[in-house]
Amino acid sequence: MKSAIIHCGQLVTVSGSGPKTGPAMSDLGIIPDGAVIWEEGRITHVGTTDELRPHLPPDSQTTDLEGKVLTPGLVDAHTHLVFAGSRANEFEARAQGKSYVEIAAEGGGILSTVRAVRTATEDELFDQARQHADWMIANGTTTAESKSGYGLDLESELKILRVNRRLREQGPLKISSTFLGAHAVPPEFKGRSDDYVALVEDEMLPAVAREGLATWCDVFCESIAFRQEQTARIASAAKSHGLKLRLHVDQLTSAGGAQLAARLGAKTADHLELVSAEGIRALADKGVTPVHLPASVFCLGHTTYPPARAMIAAGLPVVLATDFNPGSSPTPSLPFVMSLACTQMGMTPAEALLACTLNAAHSLDLGHDVGSIDVGKSADLTAWNCSDYREIPYFAGAPLCQHVWASGQLLTRRQASD
Ligand code: NIG
Ligand code: FE
Repeated sequence: MKSAIIHCGQLVTVSGSGPKTGPAMSDLGIIPDGAVIWEEGRITHVGTTDELRPHLPPDSQTTDLEGKVLTPGLVDAHTHLVFAGSRANEFEARAQGKSYVEIAAEGGGILSTVRAVRTATEDELFDQARQHADWMIANGTTTAESKSGYGLDLESELKILRVNRRLREQGPLKISSTFLGAHAVPPEFKGRSDDYVALVEDEMLPAVAREGLATWCDVFCESIAFRQEQTARIASAAKSHGLKLRLHVDQLTSAGGAQLAARLGAKTADHLELVSAEGIRALADKGVTPVHLPASVFCLGHTTYPPARAMIAAGLPVVLATDFNPGSSPTPSLPFVMSLACTQMGMTPAEALLACTLNAAHSLDLGHDVGSIDVGKSADLTAWNCSDYREIPYFAGAPLCQHVWASGQLLTRRQASD
């Protein structure tokens, strides 16, 4: 049966055949009084309500948006959504003056979530992850990348990745799975990080590949995590197992992480708060997509945001993502991330929306399926309770997301958690 949405005051198609750069990042392909029709989860027609009326059989299921905004379902290209517990205690300690790095050095931080994940059963992890997925959907997201990295031993990493697989199979959130075994050095390898890297290369990566549990491999390349040559070792093992690379670089220290991502042929370089001009050139030369995570800057109380304007000037297809995780960025909201991009990074509302839709989808190699309202793509659509798309980042924190369709199915919040 055909379904349709008509009378979208702004149908923000974000139409495009590839990622957008430079001035094209402001081109949202808005259709006033727009409409969209889909059948069996795939978009069949896009146009004005008048143009599409002849294609609407009388028995089609039609929603009248009464002048509100419709965008593609948002795409969150960097999250750590599978975790157990919370770190509200560290949030309070940071409010009292402790730094993220100090907390990590005392055995808190990532390692405290690792303890919680190791003792959780797969079902417990799944139940909590599904709650996180519901929060994302409630904020307009229909596709999310999801990393492991809170297990740090073979079984616990596989447990997280199997939760990713269950989330994907169950839907409605579409999941792209990333193996991040090299997120931190686990306590049992303290002082022996090279031995842990060998475990990641020799045991974890082959097991992940054997079970087909991940598309991507990530490494936290940072002073408190893994060095550049360790990152390069893991990257080459990952490639030999058919996994593609997304890397955490240049977040807390500036040490040429972007140049490394370019040398290693990564698809994305994520964070980049402290990237150098040379690093930006390297990304542009090698076509590496920058993924910015301003909510992690905000939530850590830091003030140095990534240089999105310089990235756009360099012709790079900037992506924005939440980095949703229990430590540095406990927010599942892309609209909030868009607000930060506009207020702290000098991005326009149009650029910010494009960075959370079309460019984000292409950064996950999912641009053929999601990220814009184009004929042939999945009917992943988000309706907003406003009449101007700029109000999505402008009314920061307001619950504007009204309806979400994933693969053509209307989700209420209740259906999303059932
Ligand atoms: O992307 N950078 C490493 N990982 C996360 C933080 C994870 C945590 O604190 O639990 C990040 O910011
Ligand atoms: Fe991250």
